[in-house]
Amino acid sequence: MWDHDADRWTYWTLGIALLVFLAHLFLLRLCCRPSDVRRSPYDVGYLPRRTHCGDWDTKNLTRRRHRRGSIPPHFPNGWYRVLDSRDLRLTALCPGEQLAVFRADEGQVSIFHAYCPHLGANLAMGGKVRGNCLECPFHGWRFRAEDGKCVEIPYARKVPEFARTKVWPSCEMNGLIYMWYHCDGIEPEWNVPKQEEVVSGEWVFRGRTEHYITAHIQEIPENAADFAHLQYVHTPFVLGGANLQYTCSWLWRTFRHCSLMNVEHSLTFCGRKIPGVDLKVQARQVGPALVYLNFKHPVFGQGIILQCVTPVEPLLQQVTHHIYYKSTIPPIIPKILLHLERIQFERDVYIWNNKTYMKTPLLISEDSPIGRHRRWYSQFYTEKSKRSPPQQNTLEW
Ligand code: FES
Ligand SMILES: [Fe+2]
Repeated sequence: MWDHDADRWTYWTLGIALLVFLAHLFLLRLCCRPSDVRRSPYDVGYLPRRTHCGDWDTKNLTRRRHRRGSIPPHFPNGWYRVLDSRDLRLTALCPGEQLAVFRADEGQVSIFHAYCPHLGANLAMGGKVRGNCLECPFHGWRFRAEDGKCVEIPYARKVPEFARTKVWPSCEMNGLIYMWYHCDGIEPEWNVPKQEEVVSGEWVFRGRTEHYITAHIQEIPENAADFAHLQYVHTPFVLGGANLQYTCSWLWRTFRHCSLMNVEHSLTFCGRKIPGVDLKVQARQVGPALVYLNFKHPVFGQGIILQCVTPVEPLLQQVTHHIYYKSTIPPIIPKILLHLERIQFERDVYIWNNKTYMKTPLLISEDSPIGRHRRWYSQFYTEKSKRSPPQQNTLEW
């Protein structure tokens, strides 16, 4: 009788130990796996959602807030992130163009105009990679990855010299795939900067976020030149959340999260700085759509957040943040940082999703960096981009 009880006790102990071990493994996996948060245009403080409008009304409301002629061209010239290397799919939309993105057998990524020049089938929907070519799903024409030339038509004796599809200049850097867009068809004028630690694998990928925002592309980088908004949008304690309607919650009042020109973040409690949570951030804007946020912490080391803005259509921006962090730092640290960054970013999204673009804003002298930023940003437009069809030829504009 006594032995029987002892056996039962042993089984229970073993069972519980196994459960604890499995739970531990699960938690470990959860902590180590890169995080992936994706938010639709309706997730963050979007006015039409609160008034129960449908998608179509939502689009029209967005466009009505931006009066025709009062906004800059929709697609500045430059590099845009299209996809993540680890997430390579055949189809993508950027900037307002349907694309077919693929990796040929030789390993090089190519980006084609998605519609086949033969009869217009979408190469991204059912197209197949054959060696160094992309094969159209409709009649099997094959287009060469490097220059888009048609090299095979299965039922023809000869391939005409002029048979080719448009190839967008592209590159793969820091774990992301980019395309070059220039409204005048000019080849890339500069390169996407390499982040040495990311490419060498010293810093590893720990997570990403993705947001869709209904605003003009220029408004997103302009935020960095708008120092006055830091006090109102980003200063309240980050755990107070992203909803700007609830700025009166006790969390917002008790803690203050201070940002100094995107250079230094610190946490204060009742006016006193809390030691050990200072984070130095250096924001580098690269072209019209890429921002490199390098940060450094005395204890938690270094890392980078790559922010990419991609105009998927006029007044609809896809914004992604990818965090890479020193591989020796526990993954939970960069994941928390990304989470805090997301809350701060969503406070801006809350504003962007409901604001209009002011062509001649009422700026005071303290706002002068905004004017300087606009002058700097204007270099990414040319005469032709001012005459871009989405502004002039559609019924809604
Ligand atoms: S439409 Fe592509 S091969 Fe005919
Ligand atoms: Fe901001």
